[in-house]
Amino acid sequence: MRIGSHELASPLFLSPLAGYTNLPMRLTLRELGGLGWATTDLVNARSLIERNPMALKLVATSPADRPLSIQLFGSVPEEMRDAAVICQELGVQGVDINMGCPVKKVTKIGGGSAMMTELAGTARLVRGMVDAVKIPVTAKMRLGWDDDNLTAPDLARALEDAGVAAVFVHGRTRAQGFAGTVNLAGIRSVVQAVKAIPVIGNGDVTTPAGARHMLEVTGCAGVSVGRGAFYDPWIFRRTEALLRTGAEPPEPDFTERIRVLRRHFSLYVDFYGEERGARYFRKVAPWYAKRFGPAKPFKQDILGILSRADFEAVVARFLEWRRQFCDESGELLPKYQPAPLTPSFLRTGADGPTEGIRVPKGPVEVW
Ligand SMILES: Cc1cc2nc3c(=O)[nH]c(=O)nc-3n(C[C@H](O)[C@H](O)[C@H](O)COP(=O)(O)O)c2cc1C
Repeated sequence: MRIGSHELASPLFLSPLAGYTNLPMRLTLRELGGLGWATTDLVNARSLIERNPMALKLVATSPADRPLSIQLFGSVPEEMRDAAVICQELGVQGVDINMGCPVKKVTKIGGGSAMMTELAGTARLVRGMVDAVKIPVTAKMRLGWDDDNLTAPDLARALEDAGVAAVFVHGRTRAQGFAGTVNLAGIRSVVQAVKAIPVIGNGDVTTPAGARHMLEVTGCAGVSVGRGAFYDPWIFRRTEALLRTGAEPPEPDFTERIRVLRRHFSLYVDFYGEERGARYFRKVAPWYAKRFGPAKPFKQDILGILSRADFEAVVARFLEWRRQFCDESGELLPKYQPAPLTPSFLRTGADGPTEGIRVPKGPVEVW
């Protein structure tokens, strides 16, 4: 599949997750393979224009971090245009516009999902960006404001006419927040509404089979994974293999999970410095722990790390403590295995235990 003139190695995308999809996370995922295209956390267009240090940190990238799109939010056409030009100057492969964010700070200034309710104005803003840059401009949206206003098909069509190269659709409405089931029929209606541009489906994909199901049922050209990449950083590689060969590779073993946890931590420290990197990693490690089986002391201890040495000591203590739940070969006894991660749109009453896909607590809980 293509975004503009870029031929992608796989139809699999990383969804922006503010506070997480930073350079260290993207590099960790890219090293594991299968990821076709990644997007930064959302960045305020005005902050980028003002060269705000936090905005610059959000757009930081490296040669291994390709292809990459910067996601902008804002509602002032001139600012969005100028910020898009800055993105191009930074050398990234695309600019993405946030039209799906339901957070008040974003919608109250007319950005995020407020854009979905104002078709003509949004199309004008987008055209201004498209005309100002050579790199592809894409848009990320929800299905609409609420069930009575499923504007995504009309918006996608209007944006295609305004020149966007692709649209990403999270199959929920703004009113839904993160509750309920991802609406695959809703994503399909967006696929059917556009003429030629790729539509990338998104929402609750936590397994390779879930990604394939979304592709088959909606007809979307690609799938974007957000939280699923936390639970399973190997999801892109495993999904790419499933799509290519028809066989789903097994989930990685515990040793590999710990190796990648360490790699992710190390990239955090390289990027943010030792103490800050360790502090920030406190909210990343619990995602890995979700697939570790019993891990309560690990999740508690990690909240105190301030250095590489602290991190390594916590991991070492955890490896020792975890032995009580394992057989002689070091594998977790079946009764301690974590529950399967069935995507919402594949769950049935007969599924047995499933773990809901969690939205992290904190200021972003309303995403
Ligand atoms: C913590 C968090 C942060 C998010 N940040 C962004 C963001 O910066 N921009 C955006 O367009 N969507 C953001 N989203 C929405 C995700 O990109 C994605 O659309 C949504 O989580 C559904 O996909 P998933 O089930 O694969 O995670 C965020 C979601 C979460 C949970």
